[in-house]
Amino acid sequence: MKILAIETSCDETAVAIVENGQKVLSQKIASQVDLHNLTGGVVPEVAAREHPLKIWPLINEVLKESKVDLKDIDAVAATAGPGLLPSLLTGYLTGRTIAEYLKKPFVPVQHVLGHVYANFLEREKIDFPFVCLTVSGGHNQIMLMRDYFDFEIIGSTRDDASGEAFDKVAKLLGLGYPGGPIISKLAEKGKPGEIDLPLVWLNENNQKEKWDQANFDFSFSGIKSAVRRLVLSQKKITKKFQADVSYAFQYAVTKVLATKLVYAAKKYNAKEVHLAGGVSANKFLREMIKQEMEDLNIDLPFRVPESFVYCTDNAAMVGAVAYFQIKEGVLPCVKDADPGLDIQLYKK
Ligand code: KG4
Ligand code: ZN
Repeated sequence: MKILAIETSCDETAVAIVENGQKVLSQKIASQVDLHNLTGGVVPEVAAREHPLKIWPLINEVLKESKVDLKDIDAVAATAGPGLLPSLLTGYLTGRTIAEYLKKPFVPVQHVLGHVYANFLEREKIDFPFVCLTVSGGHNQIMLMRDYFDFEIIGSTRDDASGEAFDKVAKLLGLGYPGGPIISKLAEKGKPGEIDLPLVWLNENNQKEKWDQANFDFSFSGIKSAVRRLVLSQKKITKKFQADVSYAFQYAVTKVLATKLVYAAKKYNAKEVHLAGGVSANKFLREMIKQEMEDLNIDLPFRVPESFVYCTDNAAMVGAVAYFQIKEGVLPCVKDADPGLDIQLYKK
């Protein structure tokens, strides 16, 4: 089954053709990074105006590259939410219109589930149950995936998502957008122990707990405020200061993310440990998770997206969810899946 998939929830226009939920026949992404670098973050109206300019050329490119004729597409899928409504509308309406024209099913897809399914791409087999930490600019949650659409959100952020924190800290330090890749690069030059930032465990004493007592929620706004105070206390923002803060910030965020994910794997007897979303591109975080698994004697497959393009927003992951929605006979609960709504529940 070949699915034409579209993703326009934020600032990337992405289109893909995915076969049987796993094989990516072609995928293209038009990034708006240069545009948003000018403002140090995404301006929703600016992002929305770009999508209609990019979407048709991308659709034509993936059809050409995959050598798939439009009439041979079996279904069309698009991200329905959550995301920026004006951005979502372009992908959603374009996908829906093509599906109507082809008289093929239209599948609305939940964006965060999309990130989880990025780990199904180009892989033969995934074992349930698994735990997945999805960390991006807008989302930060641990999901227990019992089956394709039988899942539970066992922990989320109480304020900022970790990617959002990376972006805001980069802005405070006078660096560019998006902050994650810039901070992780600078952190390589930072000196461990030079700057101390709080690790936020969200329990009474704010201490790292044992795995069987942990809660799985996160908070990153306090670390961001601590960085702001540090920045204000400096006469001059030097390169060394930027690098040391980057290291301390990245350490504080990734240590908590990695620990809670691995604790969740142990508590719920997971068969695999997954990491997804834009921040999953962070190598330090990947290493930290492997280290935490080793420390807790957890010998399970650790999966990250097969390619870096499947970490950040892309359409291939949307095609993967849509395929399994069709295969498992599962539809979003939200009536007609209004674009912009967070499709929280799925049912047979
Ligand atoms: O998944 P994504 O493309 O969009 C959302 O759904 O939000 O994630 C984008 C986020 C940005 O906040 C960006 O700073 C972060 O992912 N990011 C990273 C890295 N690469 C991207 N964060 C930390 N380290 C990275 N290497
Ligand atoms: Zn995303």
